[in-house]
Amino acid sequence: MARLDPNKLPRHVAIIPDGNGRWAEARGLPREQGHRQGCEVVREVVRACHELGIRVLTLFAFSTENWDRPVEEVGEIMDLLERYMESETDELVEQGIRVQAIGRLSDLSPELRQRLEELTRRTEHNDEMRLAFALSYSGRTEIVDAVRNIARAVEAGCVDPEAIDEKSVQNYLYAPDLPDPDLLIRTGDEHRISNFLLWQLAYTELYHTERLWPDFRKQDLVDALVAYQGRERRFGRTSSQVRERR
Ligand code: IPE
Ligand code: IPE
Ligand code: MG
Repeated sequence: MARLDPNKLPRHVAIIPDGNGRWAEARGLPREQGHRQGCEVVREVVRACHELGIRVLTLFAFSTENWDRPVEEVGEIMDLLERYMESETDELVEQGIRVQAIGRLSDLSPELRQRLEELTRRTEHNDEMRLAFALSYSGRTEIVDAVRNIARAVEAGCVDPEAIDEKSVQNYLYAPDLPDPDLLIRTGDEHRISNFLLWQLAYTELYHTERLWPDFRKQDLVDALVAYQGRERRFGRTSSQVRERR
């Protein structure tokens, strides 16, 4: 813990929590057990981020592509998500965490949507930390949805095409007021983005670990944060320019 500089924490951490299935299969358990354990880890990691002072956490909970998994597994994941949202509401309210969901939420069951609405409503005035769940989410569908809405606004005469810039595109994303992630952590030893936050990750620091999500602990999070603090973010500039600006 001593290695971590509290003044240089990433403001926004995004996580692709991967490896639930492999964790279960390695133990001869059904994949569902991996997802179940994964939910416990979500609980711990949310707590840990809150304790460490991370301001925004976005978790990739279910991708649009995940709908193509066997229907039994999709059902199990949806049940677990519903139960998680229900069981965590009180603690999240108490911890001062503001929760929201991003994605094509209309694809979700009415029950899960209702849970999410309740959680969002009950935490909307919290300001200790923000927690976003990406559900039925993909970066490309987010961009497609934004383009559709921009086209509608142009058609209605509310937006001048010449005036569209990066900031106005940002305004049409699912959560326009969230800052871009500073750090993306992917567990499960995969080195890909898998259609997550394509627009927002433009200059995010990427970190991957072999650790499977159900084995991920606070110390692994701290290791990722320490690695982040060792990076030099240049945003296209030279190293000496960056050092001069400090
Ligand atoms: C991530 O774990 C959870 C979801 C995608 C919902 P996986 O289920 O992808 O686990 P692996 O990659 O098969 O091990
Ligand atoms: C990414 O994991 C999505 C989530 C963690 C929810 P996947 O396991 O679905 O990713 P791919 O298909 O291996 O790239
Ligand atoms: Mg996976």
